[in-house]
Amino acid sequence: MSKQPTSRSNFGSKFGTVATAAGSAVGLGNIWKFPYEAGQNGGGAFLLIYILCVLLFGLPIMISEFAIGRRARANVAGAFRKLSGTRSWGIVGLLGVITAFLILGFYFVVAGWSLEYVYQAASNAFVGKTPTDLSQAFVNFSTDTFQPLFWTVIFICANAFVLLAGVEKGIERISKILMPFLVLILILLSIRAITMPNGSAGLQFFFAPDFSKITPNVILSALGQAFFSLSLGMGCMVTYGSYIRKDNNLTKTALHVISVDTLIAILAGVAIFPAVFSLGINPAQGPELVFITLPNVFTHMAGGYIWAILFFLLLAIAALTSTISLQEVITAYVSEEFKLQRKKVIVGSSVVLIIVSSLCSLSLGVGSKLTIGGMRLFDLFDFTSSKLFLPLGALLISIFIGWFYNPKKIRDEISNQGKLSTKLFPVYYFLMRYFVPIAIIAIFLNELGLFN
Ligand code: PFF
Repeated sequence: MSKQPTSRSNFGSKFGTVATAAGSAVGLGNIWKFPYEAGQNGGGAFLLIYILCVLLFGLPIMISEFAIGRRARANVAGAFRKLSGTRSWGIVGLLGVITAFLILGFYFVVAGWSLEYVYQAASNAFVGKTPTDLSQAFVNFSTDTFQPLFWTVIFICANAFVLLAGVEKGIERISKILMPFLVLILILLSIRAITMPNGSAGLQFFFAPDFSKITPNVILSALGQAFFSLSLGMGCMVTYGSYIRKDNNLTKTALHVISVDTLIAILAGVAIFPAVFSLGINPAQGPELVFITLPNVFTHMAGGYIWAILFFLLLAIAALTSTISLQEVITAYVSEEFKLQRKKVIVGSSVVLIIVSSLCSLSLGVGSKLTIGGMRLFDLFDFTSSKLFLPLGALLISIFIGWFYNPKKIRDEISNQGKLSTKLFPVYYFLMRYFVPIAIIAIFLNELGLFN
């Protein structure tokens, strides 16, 4: 069994709990990944499936992760071992750590891009450029050998610094104040984008589902994106759950986090797609979509210079509160399981991550010929984490709750020992016992071609 810290600290207030979990959830997943996934997977069809995935998979799994963490008060592996009473369930923790490395591998690269864009915005680099110029500028930058590496390393060091100084809470507090600004800028961007010529075509693309576009692949993409965006399926919310107070209403907290996260993703779509259609950019462009679209919108906006700097800065901060939570999964696991000092684990994992992220970054430029299964390392990490490991983690969590753990105990935890209503518990339990595992297994089997 892992050693527990003598007194585990608690989140102070209800708002603090929501804000910290939302800090993990809201990040590049909402503003960078969601729009490009939606663009590649049919727009409105993707949005519809995404919302269904958030409600049917995301909500019950988030409640479960919180409940497991709060009941066990331990890191992911420790929590599953403690509640199951067997060692083998610790595998969920190990899977979470591997997933955290995969996600951070490409996440740090994109976080580095947002820093470069702060710099470009501040040096007025977007002004007077055509959409083609801005696309070309992004390609030149992202395929360069050194420039993206420079920003990635800066970001990893900043992240390690925050973790080493133990000021994560401070960062969460700052982000609590700053994130409303990000929402404000997204609203302004949305208004500007919608009023661009042909902007309504973008709204049509994003909101009107074309049902013929719904394919098994779109469903898997939406499912993976929901887990990624909500930080589910790898124990991140188990770790955060272990700090939640006993009197907190877990269902309400999960609902709040999910609403904020989904609203910001939709807002990002509204800011991006009208501009994409107005400027004649391909919506299925891929990971560069946000970085080639929004600079154009800023150049068409009053005060665009300031808004652009602020936007990319806030994007970097939103990314930071997510990378903190991702690296915390690694740190809590390794330090508690192997009884190592947290500081050593943070430094060690950061060094490993500098190497992994550098490889991901280089795979877009000089290393682009090196592919595995037709994918560059960057895309491979993105693919395996969202479409394989997070759904797999969620599957294991649903099997644990639905088939191994005592239902009375989970109901006790979610209802705060019967103090809260348990009327909806049967719905939750049905989803966790039958719907979630069967649906994920069916999606996986289909992916393997077993239904063809
Ligand atoms: N949810 C984060 C985002 O949308 O950017 C990414 C993430 C954080 C995924 C933490 C997984 C995780 F455990």
